[in-house]
Amino acid sequence: MANPPTKEQERLAALLQEGRTFSQPDEFRRQANVRDPKIYDEAERDFEAFWAAEAEHLDWFKRWDKTLEWNVPWAQWFVGGKLNATYNCVDRHAHSARRNKAALIWEGEPGDSLVLTFGMLEKEVNRFANALKSLGVKKGDRVAIYLGMVPELAIALLACAKLGAPHSVVFGGFSAESLRERINDAKAKVLITGDGAWRRGHVVPLKHHADEALRDTPSIERVVVVQRVGAAAPTSLEPGRDFWWHELVAQASDQCEPEAMDAEDILYVLYTSGTTGKPKGVVHTTAGYLVGVATTHRMIFDIKENDIYWCTADIGWVTGHSYIVYGPLANGCTTLMYEGSPDYPDRGRFWSIVAKYGVNVLYTAPTAIRTFMRWGTEWPARHDLSSLRLLGTVGEPINPEAWVWYHQHIGRERCPIVDTWWQTETGMIMISPLPGLIATKPGSATKPFPGVRAEVLDANGQKVGPGAGGYLVLTRPWPAMFRTIYGDPDRYVAQYWSRYPGKYFTGDGAKVDEDGYFWLLGRVDDVMNVAGHRISTYEVESALVDHSAVAEAAVIAKAHELKGQAIAAFVTLKDGIPPSEELKAALRQHVANKIGAIARPEEIFFTPELPKTRSAKIMRRLLRDIAEGRLLGDTTTLADPAVISKLKQQYEEEGKGE
Ligand code: WTA
Repeated sequence: MANPPTKEQERLAALLQEGRTFSQPDEFRRQANVRDPKIYDEAERDFEAFWAAEAEHLDWFKRWDKTLEWNVPWAQWFVGGKLNATYNCVDRHAHSARRNKAALIWEGEPGDSLVLTFGMLEKEVNRFANALKSLGVKKGDRVAIYLGMVPELAIALLACAKLGAPHSVVFGGFSAESLRERINDAKAKVLITGDGAWRRGHVVPLKHHADEALRDTPSIERVVVVQRVGAAAPTSLEPGRDFWWHELVAQASDQCEPEAMDAEDILYVLYTSGTTGKPKGVVHTTAGYLVGVATTHRMIFDIKENDIYWCTADIGWVTGHSYIVYGPLANGCTTLMYEGSPDYPDRGRFWSIVAKYGVNVLYTAPTAIRTFMRWGTEWPARHDLSSLRLLGTVGEPINPEAWVWYHQHIGRERCPIVDTWWQTETGMIMISPLPGLIATKPGSATKPFPGVRAEVLDANGQKVGPGAGGYLVLTRPWPAMFRTIYGDPDRYVAQYWSRYPGKYFTGDGAKVDEDGYFWLLGRVDDVMNVAGHRISTYEVESALVDHSAVAEAAVIAKAHELKGQAIAAFVTLKDGIPPSEELKAALRQHVANKIGAIARPEEIFFTPELPKTRSAKIMRRLLRDIAEGRLLGDTTTLADPAVISKLKQQYEEEGKGE
């Protein structure tokens, strides 16, 4: 069950009520792809017709018979249609005037770069698709992918889609155990990984982690290894099981027929953190997903034929799936992919890439923008950013100061900013300005995309009035919506469609202002958002109690200047185990080993007892109050109110409360 918005969220809401509005420059509006405001009314009146018209932009092997079959909460879009995602993203462009246009620009860690035209990409994808076939991959087989941001990652996705083999990408920063869990849930037949990945000049030993995971993944028959770091991570292949990517493709044909997929065949499964239990496999299908991401990409990012478009996300997350690979390529757009970090070799790296390629559209995250703010304006000032026309953000609410900084120092007050709200589950952007039509307000994602209907409800399911906080729900199906949780349809129904029957429960708090603008207020459940990454309190708690010294743990997210939220853990140790700084460090490392570095707690606090209700539920709300230095909220339901006051005092004495 979700909690009502916290005091912190209410405070945030008040802060956001700041009233500045930025209308887009005339110069931008005149050239925008979408200029006629009637689009909203028309899509509202007949959203199926709106999406059906958008589906005409794709190439179909067989046209659909029915746009939508909606048996709440089960959706089927473009019923009866047949198509192939990769054919739409690559082949059709390779056989058009776009043949020699850059499809993928890859900027590697210093020194490396690569440009693949649509014609070249088609051949690379075909070679690897044939390599996968030679390893026995057929339509419907799941393929797990665990790589850094190398071109082979994008090629692997497209090769799987060409064969109709659902891919399941696991972010390269996840641990062996996280990888194993995802492989086993998806019952993947093949794993594609690398010898290593570059990270700020260091090597992440991917194959080493993969080998550890593979000790207990009975479904995996074959492993493909991309050579990226070579001698920096000596790698051994297990004969019969492991194959070098470059050796496989060297022998493979560059011709491969696309598999004709049903509109509702699975395109991919992507795991994300939920409130309880293990990560869930979010299932996206072929036609609706592709229509949704291509349409939103073209309209929201105002894509033009010669644009260089750069989304800075990692393909390990949904943002990379939808807005590095599928959306841009379906639109025949040049998409840029960057392997490294924003501060390597120096803090001007992003801006030097913008200048190097003449990037026109940049899509990044608030946590990155706050970091750039801290590094200072001299870094962007050194580079020519005049190619930029439009800026986007995604991943968490953007604080108005960061928005305004982005507007001034990156957009040079010329570029509209699209703050895009969406989720792994929604597949596509759901709330965002159309930049030629909607004036923006710093901190607001503005309005639902045409055809999308969103509402903010109170606990009883009543719509709240302007300015009041509540729960964000979506009340209409949309084409890129996830179709289920892989292997767990009950969880799909229970977690998303039962709180307000027939409505999709997002897990986010929001409010709508007098102008109908949506303001996102963060998660209302136990999902944390650390530097734009979704992590559940439950996963981190499980990792902590897995350590032999720990009796019990309660994990919360506390406000953090750069990351948005940081993980704080309250831990009780087993009898006789003395607390120490070394143990704190060991526990933090333990969590990183179990889940991945992104889940490493910022802060660990030892306490002899945790605040619990009479029914033994840990009251995380009070722990958040303590960690953020607030007065304690209602403590009347506690079994022993003395526990919490002692804890607060102790926390402040240790100087954590500032
Ligand atoms: C949050 C990432 C405010 C939100 C695409 C959501 C945002 C979660 C925004 C999904 C935004 C994403 N403003 N909050 N523009 N974009 N969020 O699944 O809490 O990794 O529920 O998808 O990120 O995270 P996910």
